[in-house]
Amino acid sequence: MSHLAEQLAKRRTFAIISHPDAGKTTLTEKLLLFGGAIQMAGTVKGRKAARHATSDWMELEKQRGISVTSSVMQFPYGESVVNLLDTPGHEDFSEDTYRTLTAVDSALMVIDAAKGVEDRTIKLMDVCRLRDTPILTFVNKLDREGRDAIEILDEIEQVLQIQCAPVTWPIGMGKRFRGVYDLRHDRTHLFSATHGGRIQTGEVIEGIDNPRMDELLEDQAAELRDEMDLVQGASHPLDLDAYRAGLQTPVFFGSAINNFGVKELLDAFVDYAPPPRARATHERVVEPGEDKFTGFVFKIQANMDPAHRDRVAFLRVCSGSYKQGMKMRHVRIGKTVQVANAITFQADERKRVDEAWPGDIIGLHNHGTIQIGDTFTEGEHLKYEGVPYFAPELFRRVVLKDPLKTKALQKGVVQLCEEGATQVFRPLKNNDIILGAVGILQFDVAAYRLKDEYGVEAVVEPVSVHTARWVRCDDAKMLARFKEKAYENLALDGDEQLVYLAPTRVNLQLTEERWPEVRFLATREL
Ligand code: G4P
Repeated sequence: MSHLAEQLAKRRTFAIISHPDAGKTTLTEKLLLFGGAIQMAGTVKGRKAARHATSDWMELEKQRGISVTSSVMQFPYGESVVNLLDTPGHEDFSEDTYRTLTAVDSALMVIDAAKGVEDRTIKLMDVCRLRDTPILTFVNKLDREGRDAIEILDEIEQVLQIQCAPVTWPIGMGKRFRGVYDLRHDRTHLFSATHGGRIQTGEVIEGIDNPRMDELLEDQAAELRDEMDLVQGASHPLDLDAYRAGLQTPVFFGSAINNFGVKELLDAFVDYAPPPRARATHERVVEPGEDKFTGFVFKIQANMDPAHRDRVAFLRVCSGSYKQGMKMRHVRIGKTVQVANAITFQADERKRVDEAWPGDIIGLHNHGTIQIGDTFTEGEHLKYEGVPYFAPELFRRVVLKDPLKTKALQKGVVQLCEEGATQVFRPLKNNDIILGAVGILQFDVAAYRLKDEYGVEAVVEPVSVHTARWVRCDDAKMLARFKEKAYENLALDGDEQLVYLAPTRVNLQLTEERWPEVRFLATREL
């Protein structure tokens, strides 16, 4: 096997999708703990606690130096090298969260056993579905009273439209939580709550019919056997092809905070989850094992170092390898650049990377020439598909305090949009500037940065827009008619693309029904 093929086979690049409070941060810490990056345990949580305490942007800014390093975490696990990409979740939920999902090869979905499938999970799952991303599921907080395991699986199947294949099964719940039964290996892992960062090792009992089960679990052993008969009859057997095609999700149960069920999850994860996959460009499909380096930018983080105003572009390596000092072609602008100081994100420090392989993420220093979606190659003209814009769900009108600053405002807004921080819409009917975002904090960030970086004092105020849809229609006459009729609600986005700004959900529905030949798209590729 070539060195590239070897490195490639080891890589597992993934993200965690969940609703806030399901346990993503806790699970991340435990994964790092099992992965041996122990110094990280506590860091992730500390960062979140600090973030929770304030939604003040200045404070956020101060913490950015930390948050960026933990936005990509690389750690070894057994023979594998795992890249975990953080998906901002609470107040900092944003388009970055969606876009990060376009840079992974698989995802891990965390569900709170008491709450089941929640909103944010549904949205993130929709994004995963755009590229049939394989998903493992971890049902968390079994140490608390929650819903019946079978009911949770049913809900996942119904609401998320994906088959469930249980890999472990909980024995009891809450006070009666005794452990999980591993269907793959026909063995039971017993639970004992631990405190602190120690790795959980309870007793392991081989075989579901082992008398030791009855000895330790008493009535619950028989209950488990009955339940397993039922589950094995009623649920889908694990099918790795179906999982990799995004049609089935293997399900694990446990308690992240108690470190329970996490190791089983990680072991199965490195086993099942796909290594970097082939990716489509507009020109052709690129195999990760190709010799030549290619990659695309999925996120840009600004002001990582406020003193220098630098921006770092996060690039996912898709094929070949990155070597320190190599020359790359920045395809969109047609220039060759020498990259001497890309950064990597190992453990909790920012350090220079000497090489990177498919599935890895490198950070390129950017002085304004790199945009989200940009492709880098060793010369070939390629453009990676699929870092889309997502229709924002929140809208605000920008109102200038000083009307003479209109030019500066426009410049600032354009720049913020290029970074993907917010989207801009200009209604056809007037000169308003409407910002769109998927997370509420993005507006505060935009207003703060307009002032700080462009000297523009502006406020954002509510505007009656419910959602946006990109308008497409192959019939030019029809499109012209539509433009005339829907003029009031039409706008242009930052790239002069036509967008329908629907004041209400019902309005959108009616408009879609009235204009069957017009397509209303919820995503637009960059
Ligand atoms: P998030 O990143 O998905 O938002 O969730 P996070 O890990 O922060 O977990 C949310 C809350 O759920 C935390 O409690 C956390 O301790 C708790 N939690 C996580 N895993 C488990 C589990 O397996 N069992 C139980 N019972 N609780 C769990 P918190 O009170 O918000 O924070 P903290 O005060 O405990 O830090």
